[in-house]
Amino acid sequence: MQKSTPKKQNTTDEPLGESGEHIPVLMEQVLQYLDPKPGDNYLDLTAGYGGHAEQILGRTLNGPAVLVDRDINAINYLQDKFKSDNVTLSHGDFLGSTKELIDQNQSFDLILADLGVSSPHLNIASRGFSINNNGPLDMRMNQSQKLTADMIVNSYSQSDLAKVILQYGEEPKAFKIARHIVQNRPLHTTKDLAAVIASAGPSKSKVHPATRVFQALRIEVNDELRQIEQAIPLWIQLLKPGGRLAIISFHSLEDRLVKNAFAEYGSDTYDAIIKILTKKPVVGDPDEIVSNPRARSAKLRAVFKIKTK
Ligand SMILES: C[S@@+](CC[C@H](N)C(=O)[O-])C[C@H]1O[C@@H](n2cnc3c(N)ncnc32)[C@H](O)[C@@H]1O
Repeated sequence: MQKSTPKKQNTTDEPLGESGEHIPVLMEQVLQYLDPKPGDNYLDLTAGYGGHAEQILGRTLNGPAVLVDRDINAINYLQDKFKSDNVTLSHGDFLGSTKELIDQNQSFDLILADLGVSSPHLNIASRGFSINNNGPLDMRMNQSQKLTADMIVNSYSQSDLAKVILQYGEEPKAFKIARHIVQNRPLHTTKDLAAVIASAGPSKSKVHPATRVFQALRIEVNDELRQIEQAIPLWIQLLKPGGRLAIISFHSLEDRLVKNAFAEYGSDTYDAIIKILTKKPVVGDPDEIVSNPRARSAKLRAVFKIKTK
């Protein structure tokens, strides 16, 4: 983690164009459950384009904040957006950043993780996340990481590919799709990959037949579930007593990890470390879902720290 504001780096990608606007989801609900107050110390683990952070920092006033993101385009954008000395930017994955903050004995009143990809990831074709915008098979959130979707698609064994697609995409046709991919290698673009996946048969729902496979590849490239599973207990550790943690997830694999981790630390026994504030996940209201399609699958869970162990 870079503790001080990193030097702005040149990137080949457009940091945020009109087509890439990121609209934060569940804003009112995040403010309700985190309940920011002047002076609160805020940790944003997926700061992205600072939509949530801006509203929260507007309420913590001069409270200190650490904003983390593994995408250098997001960090560059945040650097221009938040110029206060109270705001520290950290370029790196949230698991590593969290461990460093623990080593530094830091603690926070408010912690937010808004998981997954940002709109620019999906809208900028060269990032390679999108079925609809043809681009290279990349899918890295951190552009300096070695593993890309291209390496997975073109070098994993058929059985390893099938395992990734089944486990991270919960795709019933995983084995057939893996066979089609291997038979059609090399594949280097999102459009070609999507066409090969579609040739394995239609999807049962209205979504594109490649949706689940793209999700699976993205999770594998970015090691997303391991990051979340290992980080949640550490986020609870980083909370001050009386502090609040909110996590927004976008698919069932993420939400399950959040739900199970909260249940483990928040059982109704005398030694519970957290109080679960959301018995059921909080979802967007119909107006938000119409105006911001990313909100359709967003689920928020939040906890309050009762005590340290
Ligand atoms: C949904 S966006 C967050 C948007 C942000 N809340 C806002 O209002 O602009 C998720 C962001 O988290 C980042 N991200 C996802 N997983 C990460 C991880 N394990 N470590 C650090 N950043 C991560 C992505 O690069 C992306 O910018």
